[in-house]
Amino acid sequence: MTSKENVLRILENNRGVTLSGAKIAKELGISRNAVWKAIESLRKEGYRIPAVKNGGYSLSADTNILSVQGLLPYLADESFSEKIHIFRELDSTNKKAKELAIDGCEHGTVIIADSQTAGKGRYGKSFYSPPESGLYISFILRSESFSLPKITRLTSAAAVTVCRAIQSVTGKKTQIKWVNDILIDNKKVCGILTEAVSDLESGNIDWIVIGIGININTSSFPDELAEIACSLNPSEANGIIRSRLAAELINTILSSNNWAEDKFVYEEYKSRQAILGKPVIVIENDKNYPATAMDIDNEGRLIVKTNDGQLVSLFSGEVSVKPAGG
Ligand code: BTN
Repeated sequence: MTSKENVLRILENNRGVTLSGAKIAKELGISRNAVWKAIESLRKEGYRIPAVKNGGYSLSADTNILSVQGLLPYLADESFSEKIHIFRELDSTNKKAKELAIDGCEHGTVIIADSQTAGKGRYGKSFYSPPESGLYISFILRSESFSLPKITRLTSAAAVTVCRAIQSVTGKKTQIKWVNDILIDNKKVCGILTEAVSDLESGNIDWIVIGIGININTSSFPDELAEIACSLNPSEANGIIRSRLAAELINTILSSNNWAEDKFVYEEYKSRQAILGKPVIVIENDKNYPATAMDIDNEGRLIVKTNDGQLVSLFSGEVSVKPAGG
């Protein structure tokens, strides 16, 4: 880490607390002048470090800049930080992640962006990703044995992991709308996009990218989303919530190579479903049909009953909740 990164690490670890330049300098084994230079440089990047009487430094609690140093206090294992890449702006963290995967980056590489100019949703949709208000994060996972059922399991596990993380960081209860929209009070607060990178020669799926977008403090949504999307609006400072949520996801997903094998994942994935027992519209390519959402099986498939009584099991796809009386 550079001196500037080390100074930021100490300030992030002590948000809102005033530390003297001498103390920081001593802890890092650098001169007070070097500390001052690092502080000036951080201020230029937008960090709020107000001048304090008697020459101390303190990072404002409401600073809302994502950095590896800001995540460090919440990471279960400091070595995770080496795999995290944070950008102020990207077109899409999933796109960047796929590029890095193709270039051979290691399992567990994490890409985070403060904002996305072309955030990707499922089925070619876009994901609204304004700055300073959401968590846009992609994980690159590698396995020798990726198969379609395994990818489905990873997607379901990611949905459960997001629900648990939101609950532990904000106390808010969430539900899942199959396949992997996360809802609060029936409005979407998070979307997950899983993409595979396959080797054209062997046809094997070498990598998968799990992209997670959580609306944390989005003050207004575009018209088409206003009725169906929501954000967490936590009481704690947004910058801290983003870092804590990101760290919680990283801690779980990087905790072991078989994080998705947790036998409780499917039970929880099923118990959190918002649509079971409800009338839905199944959206399949160009064909839409009404049905009732009946169950989730052990592979994460949605079982629906069509209006003529047939049970159909859906491996992937999309359902929308049928409006009352519709
Ligand atoms: C959906 O709701 O259809 C899925 C949305 C997934 C959005 C996330 S944000 C981080 C990652 N990067 C992207 O471009 N998309 C995913």
